[in-house]
Amino acid sequence: MTRSDTNAVEVRGLVKHYGATKALDGVDLDVPEGTVLGVLGPNGAGKTTLVRCLSTLIVPDAGTATVAGYDVVRQPRQLRRTIGLTGQYASVDEKLSGWENLYMIGRLLDLSRKDARRRADEMLERFSLTDAAKRPAMTYSGGMRRRLDLAASMIGRPAVLYLDEPTTGLDPRTRNEVWDEVQRMVAEGATVLLTTQYMEEAEQLAHELTVIDRGRVIAGGRVDELKAKVGGRTLQVRPVDLAQLPAMARALGDSGLAGVAGATVVPDEGLLYVPILSDEQLTAVVGLLGARGFGIAHIGTHLPSLDEVFLALTGEKTPSVSDTIPEEVAA
Ligand SMILES: Nc1ncnc2c1ncn2[C@@H]1O[C@H](COP(=O)(O)OP(=O)(O)OP(=O)(O)O)[C@@H](O)[C@H]1O
Ligand SMILES: [Mg+2]
Repeated sequence: MTRSDTNAVEVRGLVKHYGATKALDGVDLDVPEGTVLGVLGPNGAGKTTLVRCLSTLIVPDAGTATVAGYDVVRQPRQLRRTIGLTGQYASVDEKLSGWENLYMIGRLLDLSRKDARRRADEMLERFSLTDAAKRPAMTYSGGMRRRLDLAASMIGRPAVLYLDEPTTGLDPRTRNEVWDEVQRMVAEGATVLLTTQYMEEAEQLAHELTVIDRGRVIAGGRVDELKAKVGGRTLQVRPVDLAQLPAMARALGDSGLAGVAGATVVPDEGLLYVPILSDEQLTAVVGLLGARGFGIAHIGTHLPSLDEVFLALTGEKTPSVSDTIPEEVAA
């Protein structure tokens, strides 16, 4: 994978208001060249507005954004030549066949007739549309249109590609095809800004994530960093004799080991949960329980899922371990 320290996309203090709606309310983000940035956010967070600003389809009210060094407001023409866009809603010409759509876009992008033809064939093949190549796009299913859209945005091998919820409504096989294709583009050096509602997609494709909500960036970083920020790892222990759960918790509490004061018992699950602060502390906790003679039937560690991270960050409440513990046991 080609990576460099240069940012293909740089956004500073970007603002776009629609009346009282602050669609973007001061967004900062960077996408290093050759990487994929996943932009996550609930409905209405401002993701599509961001993509539209970065594609020069709308003009921001304030702030700056550059793509491949071109300013979105002052150099829209140069900027458009470097980008590819798959919008949230299909944008192919219904009356033209799949092949004609792609050929036309290739020609608009200044490819020679021969290159446009070759590239159209190639992209239809990659997105499993060869059999439907000659049919008008109006006869395509939703998934086929989406694939044609993606093929269209990739036809000119753009340096920077925006994908606004590219796999919404696609079946799992097609979703995998799209992911493979995105990964191939990145391997060839492209930079991708991807908005998605699918945490699995973010985990699969994105090097870094930016979470936005109500037009503002509320968190960012690598997937593992976000997980650590929200929950961190926990150790789960099930004793052979479930009646020993409170005694185990007490033994840890009395030990003075770091972090174990946060240990909690969930009787319904038959588990003791201990926050993990470090590998050394984890080893010490397990060692201590063994040394005190507790028989252990199960041991495991748990990282919060990206779904849990997303819900925690965007303010919707997910049950955490301590919520499920009766006060007297947790105390
Ligand atoms: N042209 C417009 N006129 C008025 N309000 C708009 C316009 N475009 C977007 N908005 C508002 O701006 C906010 C952000 O919208 P946006 O489409 O960017 O959200 P999104 O994160 O893409 O949501 P979704 O996940 O549903 O696609 C929303 O409250 C939306 O109603
Ligand atoms: Mg959107």
